[in-house]
Amino acid sequence: MAHYFITGVSSGIGRALVTKLCREQNNVSGVARRAKRLEDLKTKNKSFYGMVCDVTEVSSLADCVSSAEKRLGNIDIAILNAGIYVPQDGKDIDPSVYAKHMDINYMGVINALAPIIPSMIKRGTGHIAIIASAAGWRGLPKAAAYGPTKAALISLSESLYFDLKKTGITLQVICPGFVDTEATSINNFYMPGLMTADAAAQEIVAALKTNIFMPHFPKSFTANLALLSKMPHKLFFKIIGKTTAH
Ligand SMILES: NC(=O)c1ccc[n+]([C@@H]2O[C@H](COP(=O)([O-])OP(=O)(O)OC[C@H]3O[C@@H](n4cnc5c(N)ncnc54)[C@H](OP(=O)(O)O)[C@@H]3O)[C@@H](O)[C@H]2O)c1
Repeated sequence: MAHYFITGVSSGIGRALVTKLCREQNNVSGVARRAKRLEDLKTKNKSFYGMVCDVTEVSSLADCVSSAEKRLGNIDIAILNAGIYVPQDGKDIDPSVYAKHMDINYMGVINALAPIIPSMIKRGTGHIAIIASAAGWRGLPKAAAYGPTKAALISLSESLYFDLKKTGITLQVICPGFVDTEATSINNFYMPGLMTADAAAQEIVAALKTNIFMPHFPKSFTANLALLSKMPHKLFFKIIGKTTAH
């Protein structure tokens, strides 16, 4: 029985992870802002400990990590998943939207890592999975506010890999393709390889058991995008532009 700490558990992938991991007899703690959703999750999952918290609030998140460890023991696996996505048109830039993406998607992860890493280093063991996105590999249409936060998480994870190498901490950065959640319900375009949140949770739990640094799924979509992301700009712009009508 392991203790999983997850951010962004009130809907979508995070909620599906809680349900799956509790069903598999793990202790699960997690944070999100919507209290009612957390209560509902608690009612359905007895081994879940939910805390209302905004990941942009440094001390509140540190308190939650400490409270989770007091309640359920040391965190074995942290899944840093909280995030937002608001499609943007770069012809009309509202800096506050871009700042909010960075605060939640990027700084929200940093704010969780700050209390989690020292505790894992002290114990000489632990596992951290950062949920980035295949949208972090290259710039994509409508993703001008979102994509850079995920690219930043991938770069962050690569740097941390070196720093955490001899500490006993396993670090992964996981890149889902399109998942059917509240976040993507706003999209009015075809999403190739769209999968359910339950299927995404299953992929993530399976990925945690591998030693792959950057797992991605569903391969039917992400393998193609991985290939495209290695192409020179001229070809990349042409193919993505054609397939997305941009
Ligand atoms: N859906 C996709 O296609 C897809 C693809 C690749 C990667 N991802 C990534 O997967 C993660 C989960 O997304 P999702 O698709 O499951 O979206 P979602 O259903 O909208 O869930 C997002 C979760 O993050 C929480 N959250 C947002 N802002 C927060 C904040 N300031 N403090 C605490 N919690 C916060 C939300 O809870 P509250 O609103 O209650 O706080 C919610 O529980 C995100 O990082 C997303 O970028 C999603």
